[in-house]
Amino acid sequence: MKYEIRCSVCNKSPSSLLAFKCPSCGEPLDVKLDFNFEPDKIRTGNYSLWRYEQFFPYAQERKIITLSEGWTPLVRFSDNVYVKLESANPTGSFKDRGSTVLVSALHELIKEAEGYISEDSSGNAGASMAAYAARAGLNARIYVPESVAGPKFNQIQFYGAQVTKVSGGRARVAEEAQKAERRKFYVGHILHPLFRDGMRSLAYELFEQFGWSVPERVYLPVSAGTLLLGVISGFKHLLDSQGIDALPKIVACQTRQVSPLYHLFKGLKYDPPETVSSVADALVSVKPPLLDMMVKRLKEVKGDAVMVGEDEIMEAFLELARSGFFVEPSSAVAYAGYKKQLGTNALSKQDKVAIVLTGSGLKTTVKPV
Ligand SMILES: Cc1ncc(COP(=O)(O)O)c(C=O)c1O
Ligand SMILES: [Zn+2]
Repeated sequence: MKYEIRCSVCNKSPSSLLAFKCPSCGEPLDVKLDFNFEPDKIRTGNYSLWRYEQFFPYAQERKIITLSEGWTPLVRFSDNVYVKLESANPTGSFKDRGSTVLVSALHELIKEAEGYISEDSSGNAGASMAAYAARAGLNARIYVPESVAGPKFNQIQFYGAQVTKVSGGRARVAEEAQKAERRKFYVGHILHPLFRDGMRSLAYELFEQFGWSVPERVYLPVSAGTLLLGVISGFKHLLDSQGIDALPKIVACQTRQVSPLYHLFKGLKYDPPETVSSVADALVSVKPPLLDMMVKRLKEVKGDAVMVGEDEIMEAFLELARSGFFVEPSSAVAYAGYKKQLGTNALSKQDKVAIVLTGSGLKTTVKPV
């Protein structure tokens, strides 16, 4: 067996790749890898995530659905600081890593059942999943909150996805998306283990692009935790495969308003705001279903967490833009987190750093003043 999908709590395996939670206890599922990362298995002529096809065995067995995502540029920002331009992905965000892997693995199964994809997201994940469904020739239904508007919602509709607006909070939207209906296959990015697993590819790319080594620190914006958990899994795979001797320090960056991971990680009490109004409007998970898993894994890899306020986010967003890097304010949270740590003894200026710029500035609703 090259891989297994198992419950992160009770260790049970689901009977199908389509499962989005443990059939026995309902807890999140994990992909467990039973092979090494071997550089000579990389398809070096392929300049997309699929250069790592061998390391995604459940998708490799299928017809790959791709828009040539991944293998995004790693650009030197200043002396030892590099930015990874996830905004250069086909739909404008890192989510394409999850979508290409998940849709590749599942589209034939869903088609055989004459089914369609169900997802809950009014943002980057919704847009990405809609694009990959379109590429696969599958119908997608994206459940969104009633108040949804803006460039990401336009994008979802242009890709041809059906949209269902749901009133009530974010949890209600997820509930509707998951509600069993004939021919509906819920593959929500927050819970489905294959979406999260696609994020491993980002760790592999950093390893290659840093010349078969890893930087001292990696800064990521964190909301539902799929990016964080997937990247941790990728670096652990490299470590277990003896590709690297030590893990980079992984730093989870959150906004003051939406910082459940920061608080729990630091042993502090978190009081979520009644409504989230942060300029970082992609980071909205005040009660992420994977929170316990995030804290546990971030501790296991001796990572860190940092929290930034609105002024710090706007300052980071403008500084990036004025250096030529136009990203979403939500992505600038990672740079703001780096800047915050720079002023402390958590990090030295000599440390080699990668900052993951998760989404394109063209998606923002912020107006210049
Ligand atoms: C641009 C951007 N950055 C970061 C994140 C955070 O990713 P995650 O929810 O996997 O923690 C998101 C999630 O929607 C996003 O859209
Ligand atoms: Zn279980």
